Amino acid sequence: MAARPLSEAPEFAFGPASDANPHEYLKAMREQAPIARTPMGIVLALRHRHLELVTSDATRQLETETKVMQGITSGPIWEMTRTGMLFANGETHARRRAPVAKTFAFKLMDAMRPAAAALAAELIEPRIGAGPIDFVNEIAAQIPARIIADILGIPRSDLPVFMGWIADTAESLGFIDLKRREQIEKSLVEFNDYVEKLLNDRRAAPREDFLSEYVRATASEDALSEAEVRTQILGLILAGSDTTRGSLCLILAHLLRHPQQWRAFCADPQGLKKAVVAEGLRYDPIVSGVPPRVALRDIELDGYLIPAGTPIAVSLISALRDPEVYADPDRFDIARTDHPRWHPIFGGGAHRCLGEALAKAEMEETLAVIARLAPNTQLIGDVPKCSAGPIRQVGEMRVAFA
Ligand code: HEM
Repeated sequence: MAARPLSEAPEFAFGPASDANPHEYLKAMREQAPIARTPMGIVLALRHRHLELVTSDATRQLETETKVMQGITSGPIWEMTRTGMLFANGETHARRRAPVAKTFAFKLMDAMRPAAAALAAELIEPRIGAGPIDFVNEIAAQIPARIIADILGIPRSDLPVFMGWIADTAESLGFIDLKRREQIEKSLVEFNDYVEKLLNDRRAAPREDFLSEYVRATASEDALSEAEVRTQILGLILAGSDTTRGSLCLILAHLLRHPQQWRAFCADPQGLKKAVVAEGLRYDPIVSGVPPRVALRDIELDGYLIPAGTPIAVSLISALRDPEVYADPDRFDIARTDHPRWHPIFGGGAHRCLGEALAKAEMEETLAVIARLAPNTQLIGDVPKCSAGPIRQVGEMRVAFA
């Protein structure tokens, strides 16, 4: 039978229904068809098995196309997109990723666990019994920002301004709210200058730290431009901030909404911390989809013809609740045993997340600290609402530690 044209795939309509409950909305779509299409012309692949498109040689990573679509073809956002690793392919991508991968190594990041646990305890202990707090900003945003600041050797006194830049410039990774462009670009210029100064300091006086190693590695790699050297550091900071902050919130909120599982976790935080994080990342993923790939040739996917040149995003909100892989997928279950070996939330292939070990260390240790020090913690109200977007933004979340 001839493959069906894309025009016959259901349309994913951004709006109140998909915003209010993306899980329910995408489940209904998945039951209707294996793929959907968005008004911007992106194919949404809905099944877990479609994750193989992420690593397939029939696709490549989307580059600057979304910025061009938005009319952004010069200036700081454009430069950041053009010189980063996330939106690059082939040899260019490998050249940019190699020095970071070499120095931001798995073992080194896993060794950050005691630091993450100590930071979590320092933030949480004084708030126990103090009533409801703003969990998003007082705890969840602090953990990734302070840890990456420590890794980069940024003084604590610079943290407030550093966190302000992160909040503004993280928006440059996705679709830009054009009303915010000026502010984002102003912060990007300041942030770039700051990172450049850090790099120059290490060139002048190397220390025993990540940034000095990175400077050494970039000097011996096939020539990276100064902008490329800088952008990879900015990218590292931004890629790890909203993702880890939001995940921490959602995982804790779902745990607290399942009191039996919360109690089980409190009884054995060390034994269960990995399972808790894996299930939280699956059940309510902070990244709505793997960054889009582009079809390099015509692809037939579950009976639909995807023409060469079409961007394809595998929806993680849908794939991570695919009943073909996860038993009773709408159930939050920290005891499930059907997680694949590589968690899809971190993408795949040449672009698989470089911060996986660090993110897991931060989330697992923070949650274990809360379970150990404050087992009677309460979530005030519902699980926080998330805004739509490639990295979903968590709304208000108040927690009382006890
Ligand atoms: C819960 C936390 C996190 C999640 C869910 C997450 C998820 C992802 C995803 C989906 C990708 C794209 C992979 C692909 O295109 O196949 C990615 C890339 C990346 N992530 Fe993460 N990430 C997290 C935390 C971090 C942290 C803490 C860092 C570093 C401090 C980091 C650094 C990066 C970098 C540098 C890339 C680009 C890799 C490349 O293009 O080669 N991430 N991440």
